[in-house]
Amino acid sequence: MSKKLLLKDAHIEGIRTYDVYRRQGGYEAVEKALKLTPDEITEEVKTSGLRGRGGAGFPTGLKWSFLAKPEGVPRYLVVNADESEPGTFKDRYLMEFIPHLLIEGMIISSFAMGANTSYIYIRGEYAWIPDILEQAIDEARAAGFLGKNILGTGYDLEIYVHRGAGAYICGEETALLESLEGKRGNPRLKPPFPAVKGLWACPTVVNNVETIAAVVPIINIGGAEYAKIGVGRSTGTKLISACGNINKPGVYEIDMTITVEEFIYSDEYCGGIPNGKRLKACIPGGSSVPIVPANLLLRTINGEPRYMNYESLADGGFATGTMMGSGGFIVLDEDQSVIKHTMSLAHFYAHESCGQCTPCREGTPWMFKILKKIESGMGTMEDIDLLWDVQRKIEGNTICPLGDAAAWPVASAIRHFRDEFEWYINNPAASSGTYGLGNYADPIPIAAKAEQ
Ligand SMILES: Cc1cc2nc3c(=O)[nH]c(=O)nc-3n(C[C@H](O)[C@H](O)[C@H](O)COP(=O)(O)O)c2cc1C
Repeated sequence: MSKKLLLKDAHIEGIRTYDVYRRQGGYEAVEKALKLTPDEITEEVKTSGLRGRGGAGFPTGLKWSFLAKPEGVPRYLVVNADESEPGTFKDRYLMEFIPHLLIEGMIISSFAMGANTSYIYIRGEYAWIPDILEQAIDEARAAGFLGKNILGTGYDLEIYVHRGAGAYICGEETALLESLEGKRGNPRLKPPFPAVKGLWACPTVVNNVETIAAVVPIINIGGAEYAKIGVGRSTGTKLISACGNINKPGVYEIDMTITVEEFIYSDEYCGGIPNGKRLKACIPGGSSVPIVPANLLLRTINGEPRYMNYESLADGGFATGTMMGSGGFIVLDEDQSVIKHTMSLAHFYAHESCGQCTPCREGTPWMFKILKKIESGMGTMEDIDLLWDVQRKIEGNTICPLGDAAAWPVASAIRHFRDEFEWYINNPAASSGTYGLGNYADPIPIAAKAEQ
């Protein structure tokens, strides 16, 4: 049974309300934290080994310690609740069902940063959740945990909820800050990083919803205890939103010591693949991370079991591994077409590119067009090489990582499923057929293909 820190009370009726949350021990972490100094809280978070849950996995305590503290200049905490990555819906679950966990985490984190104003930037499509968050904020204020002179400590904090307008790029932290300032959500050049010059050019920390929620159990049990959960640099628990061809789609809290095989097939988690179908491939960290075929998903290139943690999922680099990303776990069974799937993602990235950088603006629709050509049975073998070339020219050549996010699904699809591309090209009627599992049984040729 996996240890639960974030979702342990999620099943309790009324947990969305202050009264029930408080009865379950809610806000005790705030009471504890306000007796510590801000630096002591940051140290606890550092000791916990918590890594950002928004996708990049950057150590949270370290990020906080970069925050500039010039005299007389306000500092901000901005919670990134944009969650627009296809396949990722874990933050939605947290905010919708346990909103006070996020508010409690924000109070502690804001205090640690010396921020008196904090924001939740939430994607516009989560239209019903701002009301839930605002209700939780009002309840917390009525109980003395927000507003002026919190618990008589002299510390003041206000939290505001800001609705986005439906742009994936606004999840990128600097585009988010531009949007929050009322401008078009175009990513900024870095440096300066937000920790030095963020919202309104003031020092700012941008953290994911789950990251900030995790601060509550860290304070409750202590950073050292938190670090004992999990393995290596993958400490604590992680929320995974699982979808696709599985019997039990949903949001799961895992402790990062379980294998990918257990996660997919055990009844505690995804419950296996419907109708006894075979596993073909998986995108384990949200749409931006490389797709991996079943054999490389369940085992690393050395034949070791692959685990649901940052290091194991990335084992072998992009040639044979993938990434934990934002924890959006998308499962494809033997009937799914990798070409159609990749084409659909390419369409998404072409639509969501902000257009600021030429390789991304021009390259993302170009990739979609080539994939559409192949999918509709009009592709040539040269198109595969062209597609490879276009994605390579996007990766690493843009201001923000949306370009990389668009390139990796295409690169990994070609790397691991070249046979399927060729089948589409050789079978003009392929778009109405099913290629099936394909030729991915032996990991060695796949690794060799990665060197192309
Ligand atoms: C195109 C793009 C979209 C992103 N969307 C999100 C998002 O929806 N939520 C999120 O927390 N981070 C998102 N990120 C990552 C953020 O830029 C940033 O790294 C993150 O919010 C930092 O929080 P963390 O350290 O707690 O993970 C996105 C990045 C890119 C490039």
